[in-house]
Amino acid sequence: MTQRYPVIHLLALILVALCAVRTHAQEQPEAADRSLSGDAVCTRCHDETESNPILSIYKTRHGVKADARTPGCQSCHGASQAHVKNPQGTQTRPLVDINFGPHSDTPAETQAGTCLGCHQGGLRTHWAGSEHERRNIGCPSCHLVHTQDDPVLNKLTQPDVCFACHQTQRAQIHRVSTHPIAAGRIGCSDCHNPHGSAGPRLMAKDSINETCYTCHAERRGPFLWEHSPVSDDCTNCHTPHGSNNAALLKTRTPWLCQECHSADHSGPINSGANLPSGLATSVNGLLPLANQAPRAQTNGRNCLSCHPLIHGSNHPAGARFSR
Ligand code: HEC
Ligand code: HEC
Ligand code: HEC
Ligand code: HEC
Ligand code: HEC
Ligand code: HEC
Ligand code: HEC
Ligand code: HEC
Ligand code: HEC
Ligand code: HEC
Repeated sequence: MTQRYPVIHLLALILVALCAVRTHAQEQPEAADRSLSGDAVCTRCHDETESNPILSIYKTRHGVKADARTPGCQSCHGASQAHVKNPQGTQTRPLVDINFGPHSDTPAETQAGTCLGCHQGGLRTHWAGSEHERRNIGCPSCHLVHTQDDPVLNKLTQPDVCFACHQTQRAQIHRVSTHPIAAGRIGCSDCHNPHGSAGPRLMAKDSINETCYTCHAERRGPFLWEHSPVSDDCTNCHTPHGSNNAALLKTRTPWLCQECHSADHSGPINSGANLPSGLATSVNGLLPLANQAPRAQTNGRNCLSCHPLIHGSNHPAGARFSR
């Protein structure tokens, strides 16, 4: 009899020690957050031993306990009773009701609908019918919600998320002239709203020019002398992601200018030029001026040396777009 007490004592001691370890674990700041009410139904099996960092979700905005809007596991994955209970006792559990990721059997629409339940509106106002939505690119194609720092939300790591599908742009941002995208100063989402847009090409604003003006406001004018291709569309002359010509130009001057103008001041706008819509009439207005003499000689000199203020100018006299 007396011999058994120490054994029981020992067991008790081990128990106390185990409890202490558990309590200690729960007291650690990261661990303490891991008890969002309700999640225990999942976290009793999915814990920190998981190879993928499932519980890191508690270190994200989806883990803010004090916020009543914070989702639990089942807000995103569904009640998943079959998965939790595994009534058939199969070796591999039935899948959760809503699963995400590359091997998901949940339609992209249902996946997105789950997220949109809380994230409708705002940046996602134009999600329905957007280029990505129509191509079945679901929210998790870009967002990692179980990862502490979702790469797509960080300007430095965001481009790589997009480049997984947009290889052309990956090459473009390393050309001679670029926006400082590789440097992380500008993200794709400064110009694009990947969730959808009222403008073309998923522009962040309603048009390409409005998007450019958010950072290049001085190009908006108003100018006394407007250069209509500028107010029409910056991409008449520039390419946004990268160019082998200076200043992100699509073509070098004077060839760029000669796409629309004659090389020698000898006439009106080049016929067959790729003119901005609705400009044909104002272009013909150049004719009288073109017929005046004496003519300034271009002599193959760069147009910009005499017309440097190419985006518009305010000087009332002299050649247009000069200082
Ligand atoms: C009794 C233990 C247990 C419970 C409870 C449990 N899971 Fe699982 N879960 C597993 C196991 C084990 C796997 C790995 C797949 C397999 O072997 O069945 C898994 C796989 C998964 C997967 C990846 C595969 C898939 O189904 O898409 C997800 C997501 C998942 N569980 C979510 C949940 C959620 C959410 C809950 C709570 C509603 C939950 N689990 C509750 C044991 C459990
Ligand atoms: C905000 C929605 C959301 C919440 C909340 C959420 N998940 Fe997930 N879960 C996802 C998405 C999306 C994926 C796909 C991978 C990713 O985005 O990280 C995923 C993937 C998983 C996987 C599979 C991981 C893999 O790589 O195979 C498991 C297991 C899982 N979740 C369990 C849970 C558990 C347990 C909880 C609660 C602690 C939970 N999830 C809460 C959205 C959610
Ligand atoms: C039950 C509601 C709910 C669901 C479902 C939900 N979220 Fe959230 N989500 C939130 C809340 C609340 C925040 C914090 C917002 C805030 O602070 O303004 C948030 C924040 C985010 C953020 C911003 C994170 C950050 O660091 O800024 C992203 C991205 C996000 N959710 C994506 C998703 C995706 C993808 C899904 C679906 C897989 C999803 N959410 C499902 C409630 C939800
Ligand atoms: C093609 C990639 C892509 C897809 C698909 C995508 N997102 Fe995003 N998401 C982003 C990027 C990039 C940002 C950062 C936007 C910014 O900084 O302006 C973002 C930001 C967010 C944010 C935080 C900013 C905010 O609006 O409050 C939430 C929430 C969000 N996304 C939810 C979703 C939901 C829900 C879906 C699916 C319906 C989704 N996203 C699909 C790329 C994507
Ligand atoms: C400075 C603004 C700006 C930035 C930053 C930007 N884009 Fe764009 N993007 C545009 C404009 C303007 C267009 C439409 C005109 C064009 O295609 O030349 C466009 C077009 C696109 C297209 C459609 C191309 C096609 O030919 O249909 C894709 C895809 C794209 N961008 C992806 C990206 C990705 C990925 C990033 C980040 C690495 C990015 N963009 C950064 C302005 C930008
Ligand atoms: C999972 C693949 C995938 C990812 C990731 C992805 N896209 Fe796309 N994106 C597509 C597909 C598919 C299209 C439609 C076909 C095309 O234009 O290539 C598209 C189209 C576009 C377009 C052109 C829209 C138009 O009107 O022509 C832009 C701009 C764009 N994506 C930007 C982005 C940005 C920015 C990111 C990262 C935040 C991103 N995409 C991430 C697959 C993806
Ligand atoms: C988010 C801010 C932002 C937006 C939006 C933006 N830009 Fe820029 N742009 C910059 C920055 C920053 C630089 C680099 C300036 C520097 O390096 O000093 C730059 C540089 C340029 C340059 C000169 C490049 C060179 O090599 O000298 C051109 C041309 C240009 N942008 C055109 C555009 C056009 C066209 C748009 C719209 C499609 C646009 N930008 C939208 C921030 C922006
Ligand atoms: C008619 C052709 C044309 C159009 C259209 C055009 N640009 Fe330019 N842009 C140029 C040329 C040429 C240069 C190079 C100027 C130089 O080298 O002095 C330039 C240079 C720039 C620069 C960098 C040079 C600097 O001054 O720092 C920015 C930024 C810029 N453009 C923005 C825009 C924006 C924004 C739009 C649309 C609102 C636009 N451009 C439309 C021809 C054009
Ligand atoms: C996409 C076509 C296009 C390109 C490229 C273009 N222009 Fe123009 N330019 C026009 C049109 C159209 C007008 C007539 C403007 C109007 O009437 O509003 C014009 C007007 C002018 C004028 C003023 C004519 C006057 O009324 O006195 C000058 C100078 C000029 N452009 C120089 C240039 C130079 C230099 C370049 C190259 C850097 C260039 N343009 C590139 C279309 C273009
Ligand atoms: C030596 C300075 C100089 C150079 C170089 C120059 N221009 Fe001019 N340009 C002028 C002057 C001055 C005018 C005013 C009208 C005049 O006197 O001919 C003018 C007028 C124009 C006009 C108004 C219509 C017309 O034909 O008279 C256009 C368009 C034009 N230039 C385009 C260009 C283009 C394109 C280039 C480059 C191929 C260029 N310019 C090079 C000085 C120059």
